[in-house]
Amino acid sequence: MNDWLVPAVPLFKAAHIIGLVIWCGGLLTLPLMLTRHDPAISVQDYRTIRTASHLTYTMIVTPAAVIAVIAGTWLIFMREVYVPWMFAKLAFVAALVMAHGWIGHIVAKIGEEPSEHTPPPAWRPIALVLVPMFVILTLVLAKPVLDWVAFPDWLSEPRGGQLLFDTPRR
Ligand code: HEM
Repeated sequence: MNDWLVPAVPLFKAAHIIGLVIWCGGLLTLPLMLTRHDPAISVQDYRTIRTASHLTYTMIVTPAAVIAVIAGTWLIFMREVYVPWMFAKLAFVAALVMAHGWIGHIVAKIGEEPSEHTPPPAWRPIALVLVPMFVILTLVLAKPVLDWVAFPDWLSEPRGGQLLFDTPRR
């Protein structure tokens, strides 16, 4: 076992949790910001809210998502969690990533065609991100066994390969 990896686990987990708190917070905040993009407000106010939502998406929420995903991916190998709840979690993370992309699409469209593109009611994107967030948190905190789900062997058993480094045991 590489000794340097053992203290790295809490660091990666901290990066994962800080990243996902900012990511999820941003995905809940952006739909509310988008409803403020009303072409009836002054040009100056429109520019301000447009810049704020654009920068929030590109400079805060997306980098936080990237950090959460990279740290989480490392944690899979460091903690050796090749278990059904993790695969189920990844499916819902994919749903969250799609919601992230959709919100980014709205941010871009509103900037490019302010008079033609109206934001959806905030509850719609908020509901879309709250469902996967709730399921992910339930899965990761309860860690259910889910042994009734028939996963193929290649997902749950070592394939005889070896990473470039040894992983720490639990
Ligand atoms: C590609 C994306 C993700 C990957 C690969 C990933 C992977 C992981 C891994 C391997 C762990 C460590 C589990 C353990 O130590 O037993 C973990 C912990 C955690 N993840 Fe994720 N995760 C991802 C996204 C998310 C998201 C989007 C959320 C929340 C909405 C989340 C919430 C958590 C929480 C709360 C923990 C701490 C659980 C604990 O230590 O008991 N993760 N994640």
